[in-house]
Amino acid sequence: MNFVRLVVNPLKHVCQVLVLGCFENALGGRFLDELDQALGGVLGSFYEHGEFTGELNKTKLINTFGTVPAERILLVGLGMNEEINRDRFRQAAGAAATALRSVGVRKLASVLHLAQGGGAEILTATAEGFALASYSFSEYKSGKVPGTDLDEVTLLFSEEGEPDYRVDDLLVETSAICGAVRFARDLVSQPGNVLVPSYLAEKGREIAVIHGLNCKVMEREEMAQNNMNALLAVAKGSHEPPKFIVLEHWGAGADEAVTVLVGKGVTFDSGGISLKPRDGMEKMKDDMAGAAAIMGTMVAVAAMRLPRNIVGLIPAAENLPGGGAYKPGDIIRSMSGQTIEIVNTDAEGRLLLCDALHFAQRYNPAVLIDIATLTGACVVALGSFASGLMGNDEGVIASLKRAGDVSGERVWELPLWDDYGELMESDVADMKNAGGPAAASISAGWFLKRFVGKTPWAHLDIAGTAWEEKGRPYLPKGATGVGVRLLVEYLRNA
Ligand code: BES
Ligand code: MN
Ligand code: ZN
Repeated sequence: MNFVRLVVNPLKHVCQVLVLGCFENALGGRFLDELDQALGGVLGSFYEHGEFTGELNKTKLINTFGTVPAERILLVGLGMNEEINRDRFRQAAGAAATALRSVGVRKLASVLHLAQGGGAEILTATAEGFALASYSFSEYKSGKVPGTDLDEVTLLFSEEGEPDYRVDDLLVETSAICGAVRFARDLVSQPGNVLVPSYLAEKGREIAVIHGLNCKVMEREEMAQNNMNALLAVAKGSHEPPKFIVLEHWGAGADEAVTVLVGKGVTFDSGGISLKPRDGMEKMKDDMAGAAAIMGTMVAVAAMRLPRNIVGLIPAAENLPGGGAYKPGDIIRSMSGQTIEIVNTDAEGRLLLCDALHFAQRYNPAVLIDIATLTGACVVALGSFASGLMGNDEGVIASLKRAGDVSGERVWELPLWDDYGELMESDVADMKNAGGPAAASISAGWFLKRFVGKTPWAHLDIAGTAWEEKGRPYLPKGATGVGVRLLVEYLRNA
């Protein structure tokens, strides 16, 4: 999808559809009065009769029959004026894009970003909303694909003077970031028979060539030499070889700080010998959404030429109950030397992550962040409205919360008090790999904390946010690509 910027009087602009934002209960504002007049008072009558009243994310498509140059106008509700915020612009743009896609529109013009006086943040949010809502995964659909994708969004600026911010730069950046989100969504959407660890590794090499990243892929032998036995244990039940993917972006000087990002790449999670119930198991193809978030983030930071040193680590494996599979009761010596008693082979993500977090120490990172579809308990706690956040550093946690609010990919902190460690005590090893159902997201976080030493670290549990079940204004049903916008927002301010 392309953005075009145009300076023109919106009411004189010829287009198929013009998108206009309206506040709730009070018609008025920038173009609306003029437009209402041109349309013979039809807008006012909508408000009067409650047909369209500017309620958040409600839309109304109207034909103009030549009264203005725009063939049709799509009104989209922004909700109450005093409750407006960045995410509401993102949502309204998403709702508009969704409404227009459903009637086959591919090109639109918009002044939505000018409601409430506009501004750089609002422009970015609006552009994001359009771009993020216009996504579908149709690679395997032979027939008609429901909902077209938008080709072109023209953002209009009235002739009253250019805005004081750099519109073109903002749109280029927003396109790059939303492109990275699409890339992450594509990965998460791919089925488990296609997206195996080798496929992820291939994609890693591909984006490295396209965007100028360093990429290195470790094979099983090298992982064994590095004693990554926890990661290797998970891979044992599958014929698909595990991969450890390293992506590096050296955007700053060699003596500058390094941020290491780790993403869980379980390409399918059957639970292993501790097999999951059959209903809904197909959803477990998204268990590499953390890996996708990291790959998308690396694409974005490279495309933006972010002046920071950032390393992405992706431990990738498939969790199956094959003849060689690891079993409950097994004791594994992780790369860090700490031993782990396996009590549940379905708690596999933390095993991949613990070796990757330990490996990360090689970079002497200033900050370490991992992101993973780690626990069903996180879905129970927060649903799909926020990702779980835990960590050992107040600064990193505060920055991630801020990035969550700005990006709309919200996070919510759970405590990581030492007390939770008792849930993971083992009689025979340094720790178990799973506690009971109580505080299961936190005990997983506590487990990871044992492998980061003193490095400032945060853990993001995206089990509930990686996949959208119903579809929301700018999150079409399916893979959300969560984490990319959050981490990019975090990194650009870190
Ligand atoms: N990938 C799952 C977590 C998950 C569950 C993600 C549901 C999305 C939706 C993870 O590997 C897992 O199975 N976790 C277990 C941990 C438990 C055994 C301590 C869980 O949440 O049940
Ligand atoms: Mn599992
Ligand atoms: Zn899993």
